[in-house]
Amino acid sequence: MNDEQPPPYGTTQPDAPAAASGGPTRKRIRTHHLQQMREAGERFAMLTTYDQYTAGIFDSAGIEVLLVGDSAGNNVYGYSTTVPVTVDQLIPLTAAVSGAVTRALVVGDLPFGSYQASPEQAYLTAARFMKEGGAHCVKLEGGVAMAPQIERLSQGGIPVMAHLGFTPQSEHALGGYRVQGRGDAVEALLADARAVRDAGAFAVVLEMVPTEAAARVTAEVGIPTIGIGAGVECDGQVLVWPDAFGLRTGRIPRFVKQYADLHGALLEGARAFADDVRNGTFPAPEHSFES
Ligand code: KIV
Repeated sequence: MNDEQPPPYGTTQPDAPAAASGGPTRKRIRTHHLQQMREAGERFAMLTTYDQYTAGIFDSAGIEVLLVGDSAGNNVYGYSTTVPVTVDQLIPLTAAVSGAVTRALVVGDLPFGSYQASPEQAYLTAARFMKEGGAHCVKLEGGVAMAPQIERLSQGGIPVMAHLGFTPQSEHALGGYRVQGRGDAVEALLADARAVRDAGAFAVVLEMVPTEAAARVTAEVGIPTIGIGAGVECDGQVLVWPDAFGLRTGRIPRFVKQYADLHGALLEGARAFADDVRNGTFPAPEHSFES
C-alpha cells in the first residue's frame, strides 16, 4: 500500500492526517487495496451512508468502503423499495459523502433504469456520479446481462463493483426478498460472478446467498467478494447503516447485527428537550445572551 506518490499539480487534497484514535493509517483506500487485502487474507468493512455526518464518522472509524446506496430510497426518501430512486436524488448525497471523507473508497450506486438500457447509458450515468458526485467508483446490479455495461465503464476509466444474488432493483422480477443461489442455482451465480470479473469488475457484492455458495464464489472468482447475508467466507461485509445502528425500527432482516440503538437514543433526547421546553428549564442562562 506504500507506493502511492503525492498528487501532482498542487492539488488541495493531501492524504488525511492520522486518525485521532490512533486508528489505521490514513492513506486513501483504492480499489487495488481491496484486492491486496483479499490476497493477504485481511477482511474489510463497508457501510452505506447518505450524508456528511455519518460519512465522516464511519471514515474516522476506519470503514474501508462507503456505499451511497440506492437504499437511500428506503432510508432517506421513505419509499418502500429502491425502484423509484433517481440519479438526481442520489448525486447530491454522493457529493455530501465524498466531500466528508479522507480515506474511505466512496461507491456511487447506479439507480434502477439508469444503466440497464445500454453500455452508453451506463457510461453517461456513471460519469455523472464521478464528476458531480465525486464518487471513486460505481456499483450496479446484475451478472452476465450487465457484462457489456461493466466492460464499457471499466475501459472508460470507471471502476465497477458488481452486485449479485438478491438484487433489490429486481425485487419484482425475483418475486420478493428471497435468498438466491440455493441448490443448482449456485452454478448460475458462479457464471454471473465470472462474467462480471471478466468484464472488469474490481469487486462483487453478494446479497442473501447461502454461506456455502458465497464461499464457492469467493474461492473461485479471484476478486474481492462483499457479503450481505452471505455468510462469513466473503472477503468483506456490508451493512445498511440505519439497520446496523438501530435507527430503523420494526422487523429487520436476519442478516443484520445491531451495534447501537440510535432510535432509542434520539427518542429519549427529543423527549427530554420537549420536557425542558414545556417546564421552562431550556434555555438556561448559559444558553442565553446578556444585554
Ligand atoms: O443500496 C444498498 O444499500 C445496497 C446494499 C444492500 C449493498 O446495495
